[in-house]
Order: sequence, then structure tokens, then C-alpha cells
Amino acid sequence: MKALVLAGGSGTRLRPFSYSMPKQLIPVANTPVLVHVLRNIRDLGVTEIGVVVNDRVADIEAVVGDGSRFGSRVTYLRQDAPRGLAHTVAVARDFLGDDDFVMYLGDIMLPDGIGAAAAEFTARRPAAQVLVHKVADPRAFGVVELGPDGEVLGLVEKPQEPRSDLALCGVYFFTAAVHEAVAAIRPGPRGELEITDAVQWLLSSGADVRAHTYDGYWKDTGRVEDVLECNRHLLDAERRSIAGQVDAASELVGEVVVEPGARIIRSKITGPAVIGADAVVVDSRLGPYTSVGRDCVVTGTRLQDSIVLDGASLTGVPDLRHSLIGRSASVGTVAEGGEHVRLVVGDHTRVEVAA
Ligand code: DAU
Repeated sequence: MKALVLAGGSGTRLRPFSYSMPKQLIPVANTPVLVHVLRNIRDLGVTEIGVVVNDRVADIEAVVGDGSRFGSRVTYLRQDAPRGLAHTVAVARDFLGDDDFVMYLGDIMLPDGIGAAAAEFTARRPAAQVLVHKVADPRAFGVVELGPDGEVLGLVEKPQEPRSDLALCGVYFFTAAVHEAVAAIRPGPRGELEITDAVQWLLSSGADVRAHTYDGYWKDTGRVEDVLECNRHLLDAERRSIAGQVDAASELVGEVVVEPGARIIRSKITGPAVIGADAVVVDSRLGPYTSVGRDCVVTGTRLQDSIVLDGASLTGVPDLRHSLIGRSASVGTVAEGGEHVRLVVGDHTRVEVAA
């Protein structure tokens, strides 16, 4: 079996982050979502991985490289524009050959792994096997309707009136039968070739299409709120590990990770929390549920339930919560007294100050 990982697309829901970095590289518990994805694939024993990229290929390559650090061999497959999930299968046609493959969206988190689903696919080898998960409001997803014996009755992409509460998770197992389906379908209402339509095409043509109900934790990291929620979930599983330096005037409470080279000075950190490599935290109170990236500098700041990306600095911020701070961003207090707020923010940035 091969793997096809999707790391292209436009990422409009994660603006402004997606202006400067592929959304698949947003860190959750200080590890990019895409790396979590590649680890899950490695755990299946799948080593041949095609990664679909857009013109941000250099950013992805800087993190993933040739895949050897995940024990795999990565081939980059360039998609000229976000023409849809099924279009990526056509882009990958030569790479995939006639092999079975798992297609895995590069922006979803399944920390409990997909081993059981993969084993089920391998045992039965249907033309397609999709992962589905029960959600409260499935309208933002592909929706699958199942019959009384769990058979797939139909699939619709983002229906206004869903016929079930089962959302497509973004992991699909296919045999080579999918290529005929991808060639047969036409773009859907959002102008993209939908993989949901390709699976429906297989179903309508009488092929064996199965659904695996995934009961573990699942999150599409498409929006900032989802990234923060997922960060909380992953941090909950962290165990205390202190590789950096913590001075005698600092206090660490609960599950706190201090990565190598980080320094904690006169600060209190309440876990779960992760302080990235070479970060410096001075006179601050951090956590719970806080991830600070590598090379960050945090001074005189209170911060909780937040993610701070690499190289950012926070200076004298009295109480920051539920925040996602971009790479090398700087957040501080105005130099000369006064109650005013000063901002230098990019397009589609969101700022919320106390009323
Ligand atoms: O999260 C699960 C949902 O993912 C499913 O329920 C839907 O059925 C499925 O269509 C998909 O919907 P999204 O609207 O969330 O897809 P999105 O456009 O965010 O793309 C998913 C990933 O695929 C993302 O990492 C970007 C990448 N991508 C997307 C497109 C459209 C590509 O690499 N190329 C593309 O052309």
C-alpha cells in the first residue's frame, strides 16, 4: 500500500496564517499537523508516500525533507491550483500506479491512529473504504448515509440538509478502481473535483464501498478554534519532561515539557504546557494548555490556552488567552504610558481587546 497526503489547497479559513505558511504546518503541541499525519502513516508500515503540494513546496520540504526521519520515502507531487481532492488523485496517477493507497488530508488530526481501519481495508479490499465520525453539525463536511447493516447508501459533499450525522473524516482507502471514478466525475458546486463524488460514483456503479466508523478523537484543524481545541487535547496526553533549564525561583506545576535549550527564569508554568527549544520565559505565568514554540521570548506575561509559534515574542502582556500568535510576531505593551492600543497587523488578522 502507498499513501497520498494532501498538503496543497488554499487555507482561507486559517487566514492570516495561511498567507505566510501552509496550514498543514500549524503546530499542535509544538509539532506540525502534517508531521502528526506522517507519523500515523508510518505506524501503518506504509513507506511510499506521495505528498501533494502547491507553490509552498519549499516550506513543506523544509519540515518533511525526503521523509527518512519518518522512516519513509516522500515524493512531492505538484498541483497547479486547488482543483479538488479528487484532482490530486489524478495528479498522483503515475506515482500511485495500480497500487492500493490510503489518501489522508494533511490538515486533520487523528491522534488515536488509523490502524484498525487499515487492517479492515486490507482484510476485505473494497474498492473504497471511508472513515466516518459522528458530529453534531455535519453540514461543513462530506456526509455518509448508512443502511441498517452499516452498508453505504450514499455520500454527499457539504449538504445543506444532511441525511445523517456521519462526517467524512478525511481518510480514504482505495484500490486502483478509484482512477476510473476520478476520470468520470465533473466539478461540484464549489468548482472542485470532489473525492466524495468519486466514491459516490463507485457506489452507483455497483462497486464495494465500505465505511469504517471512527470512534477516536478527530479534528479538522481548519479554523483557529479547532487548532486550540486540538492543542488542549494533545497537551492532556503530555508527560513531564525537563530538558532545558529552570531556575530556583521558578515553579513548574503538573505536566510541563521544557525542551532542550529553553530557559525558565522567575516564572510559574502550569501544565499541561510545552516550552519549545531555545525559548526564554522570564517573569511570566504560563498555562495551562499553552504551547510556546522554539526561539520564543516571553517576558512579564500571563498566557493560557494559547499557541505561540516559533520566534515570537510577548512582552508585558497582562492576560492573554485563547490566542494563536504567528511566527516571529511580537506582542507587547505601548512604550509610553497611556491606555491606548497600538497595532501593526496583517490582512485578515483578528484582534480582540478588553472592552
Ligand atoms: O475534514 C474532512 C473534510 O475534508 C471532509 O468531510 C470533506 O468531505 C472533504 O471534502 C474535505 O473538506 P474540506 O473543505 O475540509 O477540504 P479542504 O479544502 O480543507 O482540503 C482538505 C485538505 O486537502 C487540505 O489539507 C488542503 C488539501 N487540498 C485541498 C484541495 C481542494 C489539496 O491538497 N488540494 C486541493 O485541491
